[in-house]
Amino acid sequence: MTGIPPVFTNDLKDTFGQYTAQVRWPIILQNCIDDMTKRLSNPAGDDENDDGHVLSLQDKQVGEDIKSKLEKLRDEIKNKSSETQIPPFTAEEITKEQDLQVFNDYLQEYNSGKAESEKMTWKNGDWLFTEIYMYRRIHTFFMAQESVAPYWCTFDIFNYLKQSTLQSSYFGVHELSKFYLQTIKPNLTKISDSELEELYEEFITIALWGNATDLSLLTNATMDDIKAIQGSDARKKNIEKILVNDSLKSWKHLKAETASAPGKSKIDIVCDNSGFEVFSDLVLALFLLDSHLVSTVEFHLKNLPYMVSDVMMKDVDLLLKDFESPNFFSQHSGNENAVDPVLFEMSQCIKQHIKTGKITFNSHRYWTSCADYWTLAPDSTDQDGLEMYNYLAKTSSLVIFKGDLNYRKLTADRQWPRTTSWKQSLGPLGKSGLPVLSLRTCKADVMVDLPKGVDEKLCELWGKDHEHGSWWCTSGKWAVVCFN
Ligand code: F6P
Ligand code: MG
Repeated sequence: MTGIPPVFTNDLKDTFGQYTAQVRWPIILQNCIDDMTKRLSNPAGDDENDDGHVLSLQDKQVGEDIKSKLEKLRDEIKNKSSETQIPPFTAEEITKEQDLQVFNDYLQEYNSGKAESEKMTWKNGDWLFTEIYMYRRIHTFFMAQESVAPYWCTFDIFNYLKQSTLQSSYFGVHELSKFYLQTIKPNLTKISDSELEELYEEFITIALWGNATDLSLLTNATMDDIKAIQGSDARKKNIEKILVNDSLKSWKHLKAETASAPGKSKIDIVCDNSGFEVFSDLVLALFLLDSHLVSTVEFHLKNLPYMVSDVMMKDVDLLLKDFESPNFFSQHSGNENAVDPVLFEMSQCIKQHIKTGKITFNSHRYWTSCADYWTLAPDSTDQDGLEMYNYLAKTSSLVIFKGDLNYRKLTADRQWPRTTSWKQSLGPLGKSGLPVLSLRTCKADVMVDLPKGVDEKLCELWGKDHEHGSWWCTSGKWAVVCFN
C-alpha cells in the first residue's frame, strides 16, 4: 500500500477507541472526582498514601472548584459528546503552559473550512488527540488558581491509584529484586557473550510484560490478577504471545554500537507507567549498566499527571522511598514494622547509579504533547519534536519506547492494514536512522508488522467469546517487540 490511512477517530464504529471515548473516559473522570472527594474529606492529608499537607480554607474552596470542573467535563463527555465542540485552551492557560498552543494549532487546522456541525467534538474527534487533550484539560483545572492555592498545581490526582497498585505489586517487585540481586548480579562478570545475549532478551521481556500493568485498564484488578501478570512463570507461559520479536535484532545493533564507541553508549527509555512497569525498566537499566553493556541510561518521564498511570519523577522518588519503608508493603508481605531487606538493597543499588550519574532522568514537555512521533524527525516542523530528535540522534545508542500509548504515537495511531511494515508505520522517524525499539503489550486498535494470516487467526479466536474479534489486540494479552 502506498497511501497514508486516516487516524482512528472516536466515532469509528466498533473500535476500542469508540468504546474508550464513550465508556472508559467517563469512568476515569468519575475516579478522579471520587479521589478529589476523598482528599477534600481529609483536610489533614494524613491517610495512607496522602502527602501530609493540611488544606487551608482556600485550598478547600479551590479543591471544590476543581471537583465541579471535573464533573462538568465528565458530563460533557458522557452526555453531550456530539454537541460539545472541543474548546481551544485560553490565553491564560497558555501563559501557564506554553506547549498547549500546539493543541490549539491542531484544533484550528482540523476545524478550518468546516461547517459548525462538522467541527471537532468529543464524539467525532481524533482518538489520540482527544485522549491527550482530555488529560491536559484536567491538568489546567489544577493549575487555574496557582496564586491562590499553589498546592493543587503539583497535586497528582492519580497518586492514590498508582500507590495502591504498587502495594499490590509486592509479589512481582520482590521476586524480580531477588532474582536480580541474588541470581544475576553476582554472576555478571563471569558470563559468556552468548549468556549475556540470553539475559538481554530476558530483561527486555521482563520490561515488555511490565507494561501489562496499566491502571487505566486494570481498574478493578485484584492482588491475584496482578500476580498472574508479573511473575516469572507468567512470562514463560506467555512467550508465544509475543507476535513480533525483534529483540535479537536490537541486541545485534547494540553490540555493534558498543564496539564502535566503547564506554560511550547510552540507552534512552521513553517510559510509560509507574509502579511495577518503571521498576522493570530500572532493573533493565541495572542489568545494562552492571554488565557494562552501556555507560548510561536516561529515563524520559512525564512532567504532569497523565494517562492515569504514567510515571513522573515524583513517582520514582516515592518508589525508592516505599522500598525502604517498614510498612508500605506490609498488608501484602505479611511483615509489619520490618523493612524488607531485598527491596531495601534494591533501592540502594538504584540510588547508587543515580548518584554516580549512570541513571539520569528528564521530563521534557514533548512527551505530553498531542504531537505523534512522526514529528520526531530531522526535518520536523514541531519545535519540541525537532529538539528531541536532535538530542536523541546526538546522544543515544538505542531509544526504547515503552507501552501502548508510545506505540500509538510511533505509528501515528493510523488505520494501517495490520501487515504494514514497522518501518513504514513510523513515517519520517523510520527513515531517520534513529534506532528505535518498541516494547508494547497491545491495548489499542492500531497494529502493524504482523505476518500474513496472524490477524485473521487471532480475530477468529478472540471472536469466539468476545463481541469484536478484532479487539484481540486491545486486551493486553499479546505483545510486540519491534525494532527499526
Ligand atoms: O485507550 C487505551 C489506553 O487507555 C490508551 O490511553 C493508551 O493507549 C493505553 O490504553 C494506555 O496504555 P499504556 O499505559 O500501555 O500506554
Ligand atoms: Mg500509560
